[in-house]
Amino acid sequence: MTILFHLSDLHFGPKFNAHLSELILQDVENAKPDLTILSGDFTMRARIEEFEQARAYIEKLPKPIFTIPGNHDQPLVPNLGVMWERATTPWARYKKYIHATEDTSLALADLFVVGVNSNNRIVPGGIWSGSQRKFIAQEFSRAPIGVCKIFVTHHHIEWNGKYRPFGTWFPTAQLNWLAKLGVELILNGHTHVPLNLQTTQGIVIAQAGTSMSGRVRHGHGNAYNRIKLERDSLTVQIMGYDEHADKFIQRSEKTFPRRASPVAISSLQEKTA
Ligand SMILES: [Fe+2]
Ligand SMILES: [Fe+2]
Repeated sequence: MTILFHLSDLHFGPKFNAHLSELILQDVENAKPDLTILSGDFTMRARIEEFEQARAYIEKLPKPIFTIPGNHDQPLVPNLGVMWERATTPWARYKKYIHATEDTSLALADLFVVGVNSNNRIVPGGIWSGSQRKFIAQEFSRAPIGVCKIFVTHHHIEWNGKYRPFGTWFPTAQLNWLAKLGVELILNGHTHVPLNLQTTQGIVIAQAGTSMSGRVRHGHGNAYNRIKLERDSLTVQIMGYDEHADKFIQRSEKTFPRRASPVAISSLQEKTA
């Protein structure tokens, strides 16, 4: 069994909750996951000091880790120097403090993870360029047969029909394309609303809430995802902060058939018959 921790929207800066960050660090250290994935928004306003704090925290997390940037990781402070930086090198700070590239991939024994910077200069979020699509396809084509292909994006592709946020582009076409590439699991953040589901393509989507920021939304508290990968199934546990217990406890657990497994293939064939 492979264990993944999925944290998102840490948002170092105003409203950052240092106590929750320590609790989560303890949880990760205790669980010793095979991989911890952080799906963007490390800072609130991409200030240097926020990135320095995020870097220090990441260094404490057990390795390996996998990161991609979020929309809050590009500078926004309204002065001319920073506005120029946002216009010309918006990801320079992310690349200096968090990871050297915006788009990245990682191969582990039974996983192959590809993540891209889903921010766009012109339109708000959730869209990939032609070169990014090429990168995604090329990277997944290198994955050995039988591994679980995981795609990581800051912005959501799917939503639960209730809180449709701005910036979701062509979800069905994107999901069909990712399914053709063999993707079994998509991880994202951005909405600060925890959610998990299996799409009609058989892809499991695990969306993490904000792990340690006070910017909670729609009545959802702080949360992160714990994911168990087994031969025929993927189990997503939403771990939410409980004030009375003063710890993260399991709020929900859903087990989905893996689309690449023999069990999943027969059940998908039944659904589409
Ligand atoms: Fe966020
Ligand atoms: Fe975001």
